[in-house]
Amino acid sequence: MNNLKDKNILLCVTGSIAAYKACDLLRVLRKEGANVQVAMTQSALQFVGETSFSALSNYDVITQIFPSKEGETGLEHVNLAIELDAVIVAPATANILGKAANGVADDTVSTLLSICEQPTIFAPAMNFRMWQNKSTIDAVDALRKHGKIVINPEEGQLASLHEGEGRFPNTHTIINSLREVFDQHLPLKNKNILITAGPTREHIDPVRFISNRSSGKMGYSLAVQAKYLGANVTLISGPVHIDPVPDVNMINVESTLDMQRELNIYINREHNIDYIFMVAAVADYIIPNPQENKIKRKDSTLNIKFSKAPDLIQELSSKTDAKLIGFALETEDGEKNAKEKMSNKNLDYIVLNYANEPNAGFETNTNRVIIFSKKGSKKEFKLDRKDRIAAKLLDFIINNK
Ligand SMILES: Cc1cc2nc3c(=O)[nH]c(=O)nc-3n(C[C@H](O)[C@H](O)[C@H](O)COP(=O)(O)O)c2cc1C
Repeated sequence: MNNLKDKNILLCVTGSIAAYKACDLLRVLRKEGANVQVAMTQSALQFVGETSFSALSNYDVITQIFPSKEGETGLEHVNLAIELDAVIVAPATANILGKAANGVADDTVSTLLSICEQPTIFAPAMNFRMWQNKSTIDAVDALRKHGKIVINPEEGQLASLHEGEGRFPNTHTIINSLREVFDQHLPLKNKNILITAGPTREHIDPVRFISNRSSGKMGYSLAVQAKYLGANVTLISGPVHIDPVPDVNMINVESTLDMQRELNIYINREHNIDYIFMVAAVADYIIPNPQENKIKRKDSTLNIKFSKAPDLIQELSSKTDAKLIGFALETEDGEKNAKEKMSNKNLDYIVLNYANEPNAGFETNTNRVIIFSKKGSKKEFKLDRKDRIAAKLLDFIINNK
């Protein structure tokens, strides 16, 4: 799909508290196949050691322009190991934005920036007051006027514990910006995707519930991969032990009825939904009247009354024009059951996985799936990590197979 194979990138790291996040960016760039050379300012070195970056990039890190060894000329130190295709400054301090906008070249990174004519992306991270400072605003305007890309930082809690705009942009935002530099098509740009994930909990009394073994990993992996393809993602999630996906509209729910309510609110508000992935393992039976007080260990048997849960996916098909993708977790007769579910519930695709296969289905980090489409196509994705399976499923569906 989209990758940055053999692209040569200079990653300049400057002295922000978010400098450690550049390690993850570097890891993802390498995973996408890019060659990356890192340069760091002296302030950046106060936050993260160069060893992390040299180990992750496989190249020495450029930290100074003046010769450190006898017999070397200064110029060698700005000679890069690779011919560059693009430059990323991440995190970019207020200081480097100001220097780059004004042609100041007084250290390694600013000197490199003054030399490099390649497309340059700045990913700022700073205190919200620094971001709102008139000089920073002018610097950003000037850089943009000069054709540089300055990504707006995110809003949220800053290292200073203040709320505001200034957080380091998410890795997928920076990677997508780089892809656009290389004119790589983001197939889900401006597309709205709704994903449900995780289990639901049905309360028996105030301290007990019944649930299922869904970990949410498949749905969360789809959310991350959809972000990498440029989508706007909303994730309605049951209780899971996974960090929220950055830059995704997260809606946390507990019960099947909560999930039904949030789905309806979203569908009624958002009229242009392109794809809905119903990955959550919702209950088939709910407890309509949970006990108000904790049930005591008194009687020799306990009867709990269940009633059939609403069929969330079936309810959706008449309410939206979005492409509907369902998941079927089976233990036997998988293909037959999955295809029946697809046709009974009027789905465009169904993804079959098995609960009784080693390393697949619930709870695991890996999965083996078979996708069927309404049009009659079928494709198996062999046992692989859930993030890779998610990318392959998205590719299959986007390309209308
Ligand atoms: C703990 C700490 C955190 C800092 N975080 C940031 C930051 O997030 N963004 C920023 O623009 N400056 C930040 N600074 C200030 C810069 O490190 C300082 O302006 C420095 O001169 C930047 O140098 P450089 O742009 O050459 O890396 C921070 C300073 C300290 C001591």
